[in-house]
Amino acid sequence: MAEDEPEGGTPGTQNGPYQGPRAADFTPEPDHSDDPGYVTRTRFLSNAAFAGTGILAAAILVPVVGFAVSTPLKEEEFRWVDIGPASDYLQNAPPYVDPKPSTKIGEVASLSVSGPSSDADRRIYVIYGLKDPSTRPQPTPGEPAAAYDAKFAKWASALKPEDFDLIAIWNRCAHLGCPVAYSPGSAGYVCPCHGGAYDSRGLVIGGPPPRPLDRVDIKVVDQSKKFEPQDIEAGKDRIPLAVAAKSSNPNLRVLVGKPFSIDQQQQAYALHGPGEPVSGTLSHLYPFT
Ligand code: FES
Repeated sequence: MAEDEPEGGTPGTQNGPYQGPRAADFTPEPDHSDDPGYVTRTRFLSNAAFAGTGILAAAILVPVVGFAVSTPLKEEEFRWVDIGPASDYLQNAPPYVDPKPSTKIGEVASLSVSGPSSDADRRIYVIYGLKDPSTRPQPTPGEPAAAYDAKFAKWASALKPEDFDLIAIWNRCAHLGCPVAYSPGSAGYVCPCHGGAYDSRGLVIGGPPPRPLDRVDIKVVDQSKKFEPQDIEAGKDRIPLAVAAKSSNPNLRVLVGKPFSIDQQQQAYALHGPGEPVSGTLSHLYPFT
C-alpha cells in the first residue's frame, strides 16, 4: 500500500467503502396515537360513521317530533265560527204526525261552510239526524207495503229530539287528505283519490282510510247572552239540542269550532293527521306503519 493512500483503500475502488447510489434511509413514522389533535384514518372513519348515524336518526326523528308538536299548535288556531241561525239546521225535528216512509227524518241537506281564515278554512258538512240511523226500519222481503208503512209510522211517531244530534263532518279524507264528496245516492261520503267510503256519519265502510272522517265541534248558543271565556270553555253557553229544536228563539245560532278525530265507535280524540290511526296497535306504530 502506498504511504499516502487513505485507510480502507482508495475511494471508489473495490477495496474502499461503497460510494455508489444508496436506498433511502428508513425513517420510522412518528407515533401520534397519544395526540388527541391528530386524526388517524381509523378515527376519521369512526367519526364519519357516528355522524352519519346521527344524521339518519335526525332525519327520522325530526319529522316525527315536529308532527307531534305541530298538531296541537295547529289546533289552537281554530276558533268558533257563526254559521247561521239554529232554525236553518234543526229542521225536520220530531214529533212527526202521521209519518210516511217518505217523511224527512231529521237530516236537512248537507251543506258546506268555510272557516274565517286560511288557518281555520275547511269544508264541512253539517247534519242534523238520527244518532243511530240503523234504527230506521227497513222493509223485509215480501212485506206488504201497508204493513211496512204501519211499522214505519209507529217507529217515527215515537222519535224524540233526544234521538237526534247535530254533527259537523270535515271533508278531509282520513287516508291522505283528499276532499271527500257527499253522495246523496248512498247517503255517505266517497273519496275520489283511492276509493275511501264513509257512511252518513263519516264512519269508514270501505277503502284504505284508517279512521272515520274528522268532526268539527258544533254548538247552539243564544247570541243575546254573554259568557266569560272560562264559562264558554266549560260549555255553559251551549243550548241543549233537544231544547233548541223546540225553540222559536231567533237569537239561537249555530257555531262551529275545533276539529277533532273519532274512532269507529265515535269516541272523540285529539285531531290526528291524515293516515294516522287513533286507536289500536297501529296507532302506537304510526308513522312506521
Ligand atoms: S285520500 Fe281518500 S282514500 Fe286515499
